[in-house]
Amino acid sequence: MFHINENYQKMPGSYLFADIGRKVREFSAANPDKEVIRLGIGDVTLPLAPAVVKEMSQAAEDMGTPEGFKGYPDYEGYEFLRRAIKENDFDPRGVEVGLDEIFVNDGAKSDSADLGEIFSKDCKVAVCDPVYPVYVNSHALAGRAGDYLPEKGEWSNLIYMPCTEANGFVPDLPGETPDLIYLCYPNNPTGGAITREALQRWVDYALKNKACILYDAAYEAYITDPSLPHTIYECEGAKECAIELRSFSKNAGFTGVRLGYSVVPKELKCGDVSLNTLWMKHQEFTFNGVSYPVQRAGAAVYSPEGKDQTAAQVAYYLKNAKAIKEGLEAAGYTVYGAENSPYAWLKVPAGMTSWQFFDKLLTEAAVVGTPGSGFGPHGEGFFRLTGFGTYKNTLAAIERIQKM
Ligand code: MLT
Repeated sequence: MFHINENYQKMPGSYLFADIGRKVREFSAANPDKEVIRLGIGDVTLPLAPAVVKEMSQAAEDMGTPEGFKGYPDYEGYEFLRRAIKENDFDPRGVEVGLDEIFVNDGAKSDSADLGEIFSKDCKVAVCDPVYPVYVNSHALAGRAGDYLPEKGEWSNLIYMPCTEANGFVPDLPGETPDLIYLCYPNNPTGGAITREALQRWVDYALKNKACILYDAAYEAYITDPSLPHTIYECEGAKECAIELRSFSKNAGFTGVRLGYSVVPKELKCGDVSLNTLWMKHQEFTFNGVSYPVQRAGAAVYSPEGKDQTAAQVAYYLKNAKAIKEGLEAAGYTVYGAENSPYAWLKVPAGMTSWQFFDKLLTEAAVVGTPGSGFGPHGEGFFRLTGFGTYKNTLAAIERIQKM
C-alpha cells in the first residue's frame, strides 16, 4: 500500500496567491458589474519587449529548419545565455562568476524550492518574517519545518527572523544558529533594501557559523540607490557561503515565459564536497533544461535594445510604486518600500487585521492586494500593493482607496 507525503496534510492552506485568486474569483462572480483592479500577486502587465519577442520568434523559426533545430537543451543552460548573464550581471560589478557556476532555470520559484534538496534533512532553516512563502512551504513539505502551530502562525522547527519597522525590515542576526539562511533583497514583501555593510555582516556571520545563505535577488533591477549591492557576491567571502537566485520575471516581464537562474559557486563547500557539483547532479537527475526559444529570448534582454526596452519597463513599474506610496501617504497611510522595489508595504488602519483590510479593499474599492499576515506573523497589520499594474489602473486604485 502506498503512503502519501504526510507533510502535505500539515500545510495550513494553499499557496497564498492561489487562495487570494479564489477569493477574487468568488467576489467577481457575485459582483459582475464591479471592475476589479489586481495589485495582489507581483505579476507584470506590460507586453514583452520588442527585442525579446523578435528573438523568441526567430528562435522558434530556426527550430523549424534542419540547421536550426535543437533537441534537449544543456542541463545548465546554453552557453550563449550564461555568457550574457556573466558579462552583464556580474562582470561590470567586478564580481567573478564562472560560466559553470550559472544554472539557468524556468524561474526563481522552482529553484527557491528545489535547492533544499541538496541539503540534509537535519538542516535548521532561518527565514525572514514576513517572507516569500515558497521558502517556508518547500521546507515544510520536505519535513524540515516541523509542525504548523496555528495559534502562532509559525512552524515549530524554523527560525523566524522578524523584519519590522524598528529594524528597517532587515533582520537582526538570529539568537539560534541556523544552517540555511534565506535573505531576499530588495525584499519581497516589505519592499525594503539592504546596504552593503548590512549584507556583509550576514556573509561574515554565515562564514563564521558555516551556514549557507540563499540570496534571492529577483528584484535587483529595481534598485535605484547606487550605494546598494546588486548581488551578494559584491560582499567579501560570499562565494564561500552563498547561492544567489535571479529571475527574468520582474526585470523583463517573463512571468508567463518562465526563465531565471541560480549561481552556485564552486568555492561553496561542505567539507570537500562542492555544492556546485551537487546542484549540477540535481539538474541532470531531475531537470531537462529550459526551451531554446526562451533562452534566446533571455539573451535578447542583454542586447542593447533589450536593455533599453526592459529598463523602460522597470521605470514604468517604479513610477506606479511611487504613485502608490505618495497617493496613500496623502490619504494618511504609512507606506514603506516602493523606492528600490516594485512593492509598497503599508500599515493597515489601526484595529484591523491584514485580512480584514483585504476584505474591505475588495468589497468597498474592488482593489486586490496581499495581506501582510499571509507572508508570516510579523506581516500582520501590513498590506502589500504592487507596482506591476498598468499606470491607469494604479491611479484608479489609489483614487478608490483614497475615497474609502
Ligand atoms: C509575489 O507576488 O510575491 C510573486 O510574484 C509570487 C510568485 O513568484 O509566486
